[in-house]
Amino acid sequence: MSLLLEVKNLSFNYGKQPILDDLSFTIEAGTIVGLVAPNGTGKSTLLRNVTGLLRPKHGTVSLLGHDSWHDRQEFLKHLFFLEDSTRLYEGLNPNELFGYVKDVWGGQLSVDRVVKVLRMDKYRKKRVASMSLGMKQHVLLGMYLISGADLLLFDEPLNGLDPTSIELFTRVFSQLKGQGKSILMSSHQLGNVTTMADSVMFLKDAHLQTFQTAAIDLQQKYDELFAVDEKLLEP
Ligand SMILES: Nc1ncnc2c1ncn2[C@@H]1O[C@H](COP(=O)(O)OP(=O)(O)OP(=O)(O)O)[C@@H](O)[C@H]1O
Ligand SMILES: [Mg+2]
Repeated sequence: MSLLLEVKNLSFNYGKQPILDDLSFTIEAGTIVGLVAPNGTGKSTLLRNVTGLLRPKHGTVSLLGHDSWHDRQEFLKHLFFLEDSTRLYEGLNPNELFGYVKDVWGGQLSVDRVVKVLRMDKYRKKRVASMSLGMKQHVLLGMYLISGADLLLFDEPLNGLDPTSIELFTRVFSQLKGQGKSILMSSHQLGNVTTMADSVMFLKDAHLQTFQTAAIDLQQKYDELFAVDEKLLEP
């Protein structure tokens, strides 16, 4: 296995609230890692710190040996991250967005190929502004595919997808892995994380607990870590 991403002693606070406390982890080439935690725990904050959209208070992140701050241009060439579909340019259509990503990242796949694989023929010329959530999620995934980047970071990529699209996305992720790409994805869909990810990182109280997905029952571990009070509505 070869090392792709190395995160060392990463800490981040919002004001006085510690969100990430001294986190260290690595991601190997050709692996899928799930990031799981309840709402408001810090998954998006972690992804933003790893990519350098937020500056960590302490710690370092390096991708193929390129430091996220001191070697930023090289670092960014090897990853793709667009947090969610609200960040897409509303006035552009998939053809234009894909063309833009291809120009900047220079991935191998053609725009036509990605449109076909993701079954987007009917809306490849439709403006993002008039798309449904699921359609926008396809546009996002298309941009990741076009980029051809080695590390793909996703923040809840399965949100808003119908069962057929979830199946399609799952197959695409598995093929990306087969090509040696690595994926770090946050998700609330534990069933899908179980089938897709090699390992899962739970974020709790600003710390990570990592498990091989084959070694645990994800739902059981989730319930153990983030137990909900059964008697919610009792006065
Ligand atoms: N810009 C901000 N300023 C201050 N606090 C913030 C800011 N953004 C997020 N937070 C806080 O940081 C914590 C983690 O938020 P984050 O968005 O990372 O959670 P998350 O795990 O991605 O949640 P979700 O599952 O709802 O997407 C929350 O307590 C949130 O209120
Ligand atoms: Mg989030």
